[in-house]
Amino acid sequence: MKTLARKRRHPAALVVLLLLGLLVTGGAYAVTNSLTEAKSAEQDQALIDEGRQLFLEGCSSCHGNQGTGTETGPSLIGVGAANVHFQMATGRMPLAGPAVQAPSKTPEYDEQQIAAIASYIASLAPGPAIPSAADLNTSEADAAEGGELFRANCAQCHQASFQGGALNDGRHAPNLTPVSDQLIFEAMLSGPQNMPVFSDSSLPVEDKQAIIAYINELREAPAPGGWALGSFGPVTEGLFFWTVGIAAAIACAVWIGAKVR
Ligand code: HEC
Ligand code: HEC
Repeated sequence: MKTLARKRRHPAALVVLLLLGLLVTGGAYAVTNSLTEAKSAEQDQALIDEGRQLFLEGCSSCHGNQGTGTETGPSLIGVGAANVHFQMATGRMPLAGPAVQAPSKTPEYDEQQIAAIASYIASLAPGPAIPSAADLNTSEADAAEGGELFRANCAQCHQASFQGGALNDGRHAPNLTPVSDQLIFEAMLSGPQNMPVFSDSSLPVEDKQAIIAYINELREAPAPGGWALGSFGPVTEGLFFWTVGIAAAIACAVWIGAKVR
């Protein structure tokens, strides 16, 4: 004890003490960190296992036990979590039966189950991930630029006011008014059916955000003329005035004719 007390004032004592402190905190950090890492890897694995089970029950009849596809459904190897989330959250998958185009309907699975199947498919081969909160943050996005990008890349199928339209073979491009930001982002990442894939290299994240900001701005815009008539433009407006206007003119003529008699 006495020697320790004497050595306390030694010039090297401070250095030794500092090193000791660093060693202890560093060691403790490494232990807890590897523990939490192991825990999150365990959780990821549990999610993948759950997804695999759900997949075998609800999807493998068409997509195969390993997701490699069958005659009734394409291979899902490398399609990515974003594609699975898009297909399931819009209710397109699971497909009820043969159809020209998988119809969107109320989803059959909840968000947690969709996340599980998505991580299972992503564990088979890498593909576009589900967009993060940062990807979906459109507060800095330029809606005007998004409008130009939309007219150049999307309007030929979805129409300038995105009410959608018919394509060949009885397929159609859907109306984009009711879809969420995340689904718009995922549709661009995965390119369902006839829609091209807009990967991050061909359409960078900022451009995707600009397009989403534009769609949001347009769908929230008030109709200055009152009734928007589905925003279909001059065709519906013309039809409206043609039918209602001519009916009014005929009514007037009949009324005047009745008065004369
Ligand atoms: C009755 C058969 C059937 C069932 C069941 C089914 N699918 Fe599909 N799936 C298809 C067909 C057919 C297509 C391609 C049709 C299309 O693109 O509209 C497809 C397409 C997909 C795609 C898009 C693939 C791509 O290359 O873009 C994903 C993702 C998908 N299915 C996931 C699932 C998941 C997950 C389930 C289970 C919850 C499921 N499917 C259940 C038949 C099925
Ligand atoms: C060649 C035509 C075509 C182009 C170009 C196109 N799409 Fe699509 N889009 C489609 C078709 C077809 C579907 C429906 C696919 C299905 O039902 O499986 C679709 C579906 C979507 C959906 C899902 C809508 C829903 O109700 O679930 C969104 C969102 C979407 N497109 C956004 C875009 C955006 C944004 C662009 C431009 C960057 C774009 N599309 C370009 C044809 C196109």
